Amino acid sequence: PIIYRKDYKPYPWLLPSVRLEFDLALERTRVVNTMEVRRNPAGEATPVLRLDGDNLEPLEVRIDGEATQSWTMDGPALLVTVPGDEHSVSIVTEFDPSANTVLMGLYASNGMLCTQCEAEGFRRITFFPDRPDVLSTYTVRMEAEKESFPVLLSNGNRTDAGDLTDGRHYAEWHDPWPKPSYLFALVVGDLVANSDSFTTMSGREVALNIYVRDGDLERTHHAMSSLKASMKWDEEAFGREYDLDLFNIVAVSDFNMGAMENKGLNVFNTKYVLADPETATDGDFDGVEGVIAHEYFHNWSGNRVTCRDWFQLSLKEGFTVLRDQLFSQDMQGEAVKRIEDVRVLRGAQFPEDSGPLAHPIRPDSYREISNFYTATIYNKGAEVIRMMRTMAGPQAFRKGCDLYFERHDGEAATCEDFVKAMEDGAGLDLTQFRRWYEQAGTPTVTVRLDHSGDEATLSLRQDVPPTPGQPAKHPMPIPLRIALFDRDEGTHQGEQLVMLTENEKTITFDGFAKKPVLSINRNFSAPVIIERKTPRDKLVFLAARDDDPFARSEAMQDLVVGHLLDDVSEKLTDSERDGVRADIAQAYAAVIADEALDDQMRGELMLLPTQTYLMEKMRIADPGRIFAAREGLKAYLGKELQEQFHRLYERVEQVLFSLDREAKGARKVKNLILTFAAASDPSKASELAAHQYNRADNMTDRQGALMVLAGLDGVERTNALIDFYNRYEDNPLVIDKWFSLQAISLHPNAIEHVKALAAHKDFTLRNPNRVRALYGSFTGNPHAFHAESGEGYRLIADCILALDPLNPQIAARFVPALGRWRKMEPKRAKMMRKELERISEADALSRDTFEQVTRSLV
Ligand code: ARG
Ligand code: ZN
Repeated sequence: PIIYRKDYKPYPWLLPSVRLEFDLALERTRVVNTMEVRRNPAGEATPVLRLDGDNLEPLEVRIDGEATQSWTMDGPALLVTVPGDEHSVSIVTEFDPSANTVLMGLYASNGMLCTQCEAEGFRRITFFPDRPDVLSTYTVRMEAEKESFPVLLSNGNRTDAGDLTDGRHYAEWHDPWPKPSYLFALVVGDLVANSDSFTTMSGREVALNIYVRDGDLERTHHAMSSLKASMKWDEEAFGREYDLDLFNIVAVSDFNMGAMENKGLNVFNTKYVLADPETATDGDFDGVEGVIAHEYFHNWSGNRVTCRDWFQLSLKEGFTVLRDQLFSQDMQGEAVKRIEDVRVLRGAQFPEDSGPLAHPIRPDSYREISNFYTATIYNKGAEVIRMMRTMAGPQAFRKGCDLYFERHDGEAATCEDFVKAMEDGAGLDLTQFRRWYEQAGTPTVTVRLDHSGDEATLSLRQDVPPTPGQPAKHPMPIPLRIALFDRDEGTHQGEQLVMLTENEKTITFDGFAKKPVLSINRNFSAPVIIERKTPRDKLVFLAARDDDPFARSEAMQDLVVGHLLDDVSEKLTDSERDGVRADIAQAYAAVIADEALDDQMRGELMLLPTQTYLMEKMRIADPGRIFAAREGLKAYLGKELQEQFHRLYERVEQVLFSLDREAKGARKVKNLILTFAAASDPSKASELAAHQYNRADNMTDRQGALMVLAGLDGVERTNALIDFYNRYEDNPLVIDKWFSLQAISLHPNAIEHVKALAAHKDFTLRNPNRVRALYGSFTGNPHAFHAESGEGYRLIADCILALDPLNPQIAARFVPALGRWRKMEPKRAKMMRKELERISEADALSRDTFEQVTRSLV
């Protein structure tokens, strides 16, 4: 069935408190769930209590302590009929956690038991109104064998614990904050903790624990310092203080997503907790910091104020992503973080918005909510809130946030509530702005700058493309930061914020005797596509002189993108191609030589646009040709700038290892240079990469070198891959890298490698990280996934079919890669479609995969 946002109705019952009693074991867990229920005056009057269930049977139902037969099943749901307005209803369920491969509800991982309830996993544990607008106070009692499960954790504070007979023990936990079922968590296992504490702004002392398996303790320090930094930052930047005496984090190795913000007991994918220089890259360190912050920030944006229904998911996710982005900007440097965030948006969200799965940040309908944990809800959602911040200014924005938290604390709120609080608190009129919540599709803004006499005239036009179910669009309010540069002076008179609210707008600026150079959408003030014909020399100027770091990197990207698109469309004669390439090389040389740049920013400016971004820029894409053009440019630059790269490499190679910005920048530049060398002079690159690999004292250097080697032929490749495996055999997160970098490698035989790796003894479809490492990386491999033979598509379709019965959530995540068929040249489009059809014909397809495949085929 399809669920519609417009059909929302409050639940007819209130559940002020719940008591859950767990008798836990890997293969058989028993749950006694006792709910206090009371008629909801705001709901429909009915004697029936509809309780969601999934894969459960009620072993016993009691009303006010008396066993009753007053219940029936309605599909997976349990309907209990109660005689009056206030009762206690108990239900007993039992299941086998070790057989739970879906990794939703309560499941076994690595000998421990843990839960994942968001969005609808709680109904796999017990019958319950499993929806975010039913808030209850939870008391949890756990009982388990002491030797295998010495640690017993749940939300809130531990109120009791002790030994039982037969080597068993118990613990009781109480969470004083009312919460929806999706925030429930329980973890039991043989765990050790890194313990610390944090004193909040009002002087409350909070005990902090990060629980991991025995050998991993030494890799939790970065997570702990990130947690403390997040707690401090949320007090300073948003005035948000933590509200329990205890904050626990547990790392588990089988996890569908990144992490989960359960009240007082965050559960994390090990990937976002464990990090040390030997086994984690700089990117991994940043990932840990960002996700720790994200989950912590949910304590307010998500837990204290939660969502009324899942259509409001972006209310907590978009806002929390913005909050973690602002935090990381403060920790890591604003410019580079902003550029990276925009790269992620363009790489993951723009394709969503222009494809068959496009949906507004607040969708109107869904079949399976798990399919809506998307880059649109998260990352575009963050951009939409960031625009409000840009329009209001940071101080007024903060007032709007304060009002939102104050008004809705303890409630299940809507996106509309947030917008209203922003209007009232920040003093904005967001009437038209609400369209950002309603309309899908990335607007294109076409820009022209004319000049005559003393006047410069800026003409803007917006087009919001049709998306599935939304053929015609209204104009959106688009905040564009602009600056007009004096070409000779290299300066401008100050930045302005232009609001494009209609389809078209013309603005005149006086006092420009000469035509200025326009810098627009500075700091990516709006999540739109800017369409303009900027002459190359102006782009070269901006790439060297723009004082907005994002706009500067954008000019550099535009320079390269413009050229690659011309090259792909075979518009260029050889001499034209050489002319443009020479301009690009010169811009690169300027970036290399610019002493005012730090190496992290230098690295950003030297990154070529991704293949996905290039495909997005074309109506119909031929991945083979884009790949060839991009590699061609890489080889040209590698050769042309050989000397400069060499000297730069020699300089950054001297920087000693540390985690500060300078040293991270040095490693980024080092690895980038290797990729250019690999394209221009493979044998030299092999040598250089082998050298870097062998002397590496950290994972960033080692992985960067191995990635390049994995794409080349020769004994260096084989030796390094064997060495890496042997060195890290016992560390699953590092072995994930070993799978991933072979699957994404530029090696011509990458498909064969992936097939062989799928048969490797360390490969399993049961571990999401391993599946993502192999197949997720493979879908990002620009030449192998899109191989002309169609073999790459077949491989992914086979993977989806094999995975679907085990873990539908993860299986469905692979569908969008095939769903891009409309964008592809006809031959590939046909093959991709055929694979989608083959999947759709399989019987007993999960709701997750079914929804994604059907939407992708229309
Ligand atoms: N709320 C979590 C986060 O943003 C994501 C959990 C989603 N899990 C899922 N199985 N859909 O960090
Ligand atoms: Zn989140």
